[in-house]
Amino acid sequence: MNLADLNKIALAMVTPGKGILAADESSGTIKKRFDAIGVESTEENRRDYREMLFRSTEAMSKYVSGVILYDETIWQNAKDGTPLVKLIEQAGSIPGIKVDEGTQALPACPGELVTVGLDKLAERLKKYYDRGARFAKWRAVIDIGQGIPTTTAIHVNAHALARYAALCQAAQIVPIVEPEVLMDGGHDIDRCYEVTRQVLNTVFRELFVQRVELEGMVLKPNMAVSGKKSPKQASVQEVAEKTIHLLKACVPAAVPGIAFLSGGQSDEEATAHLDAMNRIGGLPWKLTFSYGRALQAAPQKAWSGKAANVAAGQRAFTHRAHMNALASKGAWETGLEKKVA
Ligand code: 13P
Repeated sequence: MNLADLNKIALAMVTPGKGILAADESSGTIKKRFDAIGVESTEENRRDYREMLFRSTEAMSKYVSGVILYDETIWQNAKDGTPLVKLIEQAGSIPGIKVDEGTQALPACPGELVTVGLDKLAERLKKYYDRGARFAKWRAVIDIGQGIPTTTAIHVNAHALARYAALCQAAQIVPIVEPEVLMDGGHDIDRCYEVTRQVLNTVFRELFVQRVELEGMVLKPNMAVSGKKSPKQASVQEVAEKTIHLLKACVPAAVPGIAFLSGGQSDEEATAHLDAMNRIGGLPWKLTFSYGRALQAAPQKAWSGKAANVAAGQRAFTHRAHMNALASKGAWETGLEKKVA
């Protein structure tokens, strides 16, 4: 492993003014997104949609440091035969790859999940590296509910995340370590804070045990937020302050950067939260975005599967990427949202 090179890539991924586009929806997830806009989820439509994003030259070159791809996409070519990976590289952005293989029920822990995909991962990483991937992603899912999460679920998921991260670094690929505490429940922000604290502490202990170099990784956590069904919704400022407090307590300064998931927040909420955190300032790591839904909901709607709407889709994507890029520097203002093209 060459740690200096891993560190260089990790720093590039979290460059202030840029962030990561999570375009790694599995076939099942992208079908759900396409269903919502009335588009059939064929291989060609998935390709056309992602090609539209990666050919958004302004967004990709100015605001997007890296793109997380799904296995199907990393092997796909654009309509003119150019590999989609090349489009990303030509725009000056870094290709990355989701390498987990989704979740399975965790035995003896009803309602809880463990992320799988470690078998043969070393071999797969080599193929992805040869295709151009310089970073990877593995998502663990922790749900909050009555009696959950169990320490068992937190522990097995943290263990798998660290196994994955160590294998990535051995393959000269920067691991994005993503332990996502879901915001689906009726819990309040303090419960989210407490569960996320336990999860992050367990994850960093496992990373240490498994000799993962913190300088060569990026953390992708949830923010401390109120559950979607909670009657008590925390303000933007409270989310920002509690999330920073939590991360300062749990994330070593050696980690180059933190790139948040959006997790079901609205587009503007996700931007406002990131902006408010960066306005607090004085942080040991860079804070940016690695959004899926909060970057893509608008372009998906504008595109709606029609070739005639490609320019509108690209405008919508560029706008969201721009807003989040400003938030990564604490320079976003709500008034800028009205200037959508
Ligand atoms: P969301 O921003 O839609 O949560 O997606 C980010 C991601 O990559 C989840 O794994």
